[in-house]
Amino acid sequence: MINNSNIFLSSLNNVHSGRIPFWFMRQAGRYLPEYREVRKNFRNFLEFCYTPEAACEVTLQPIARYGMSAAIIFSDILVIPDALGAKVDFIEGTGPVLEPVLDISKLSRNNFSEKLNPVYEAIKLTRKSLHDDTSLIGFCGLPWTLACYMVEGKGSRDFASVRRAAFTKKQFFLKLIDLLTEAVIDHSIAQIEAGAQAIQLFDSWAGVLSEQEFFDYSIIPSKKITSAIKEKYPNIPIIGFPRMGGSKIIDYARESGADCVSFDGSISLDYAKNELQKYVVVQGNLDPILLAEDKKEAGLQAKKIIGTLGDKPFVFNLAHGILPHTPPENVAFICDIIKNYS
Ligand code: CP3
Repeated sequence: MINNSNIFLSSLNNVHSGRIPFWFMRQAGRYLPEYREVRKNFRNFLEFCYTPEAACEVTLQPIARYGMSAAIIFSDILVIPDALGAKVDFIEGTGPVLEPVLDISKLSRNNFSEKLNPVYEAIKLTRKSLHDDTSLIGFCGLPWTLACYMVEGKGSRDFASVRRAAFTKKQFFLKLIDLLTEAVIDHSIAQIEAGAQAIQLFDSWAGVLSEQEFFDYSIIPSKKITSAIKEKYPNIPIIGFPRMGGSKIIDYARESGADCVSFDGSISLDYAKNELQKYVVVQGNLDPILLAEDKKEAGLQAKKIIGTLGDKPFVFNLAHGILPHTPPENVAFICDIIKNYS
């Protein structure tokens, strides 16, 4: 049942509440001094993610400050490779580093849900602390993006080695995508069972894929994942985010089975309105660089986004995660604009 006071779930169910729900990707993060305070207690980032009380605390921090319509559980997309036995490390100033996976037999689903249990405990704790009008979002990385980190071993501009593997070691690559598809289904369902009220699926590196690859490695796995979730939980909305997908985002909207599609600056607002909104609820797309650098311009752009897309059920968000150097007052400024808009 949709709670009437929950404007986020209302939009995702394609019902306009008269208000604009909003949350920001990476809303719990280093731009907040209170996050940095908790972060100091952990040398290891994954250990932080796997400490339910700490994960719950930082999930709630941006809600207490800004009153977003939804909280996203503090975790990371790379907990899935970690739980499958890939060696994952986070190095300060570098980001994630993994031992490249070249052999699928090194990965295993044994202990998968036990390893991720702290995430589910964090979700339970957080749901108990949130008011009914604030939703809790669970999330996963999609198989392509997880494979990017697992095969490449780190972030990259174009993920050439994983695209190379998709051509030259096709059997290995497809097995990896299938294994990750199953893992994403299990992790999404377990998050829902712990109390997540919506799921966001991140394909952060969808933008490096050609049209055919995008269909095979982003849309097809997404479709399998959304069908499996919907089979068990038909009323839990799913947000897909094929980042930098450009015009391919229309195919994603039509075929992935996601209820809502998050978009970035790779399509125009008019295209989002005239094309994307025909098929799905849309979420987006304030540029996080603009948010960090120029509060006034960001405010004008936020009004333009809502003015273009806000007549239909819509979720305000960024084009990508909040940057660590973003002044917290810039975030407050944008939140006030959205709250006062009607
Ligand atoms: O507030 C939220 O949005 C929830 C928490 C969240 C994190 N990561 C916390 C985090 C979410 C939703 C993610 C998703 C994630 N993680 C993605 C998909 C979204 C995207 O950004 O495209 C990706 C690709 C990752 C992988 C990842 N995790 C990278 C590349 C990095 C390093 C980059 C950086 O900012 O340092 C991380 C680390 C990470 N995940 C941090 C946070 C708050 C920073 C680590 C720290 O505090 O030291």
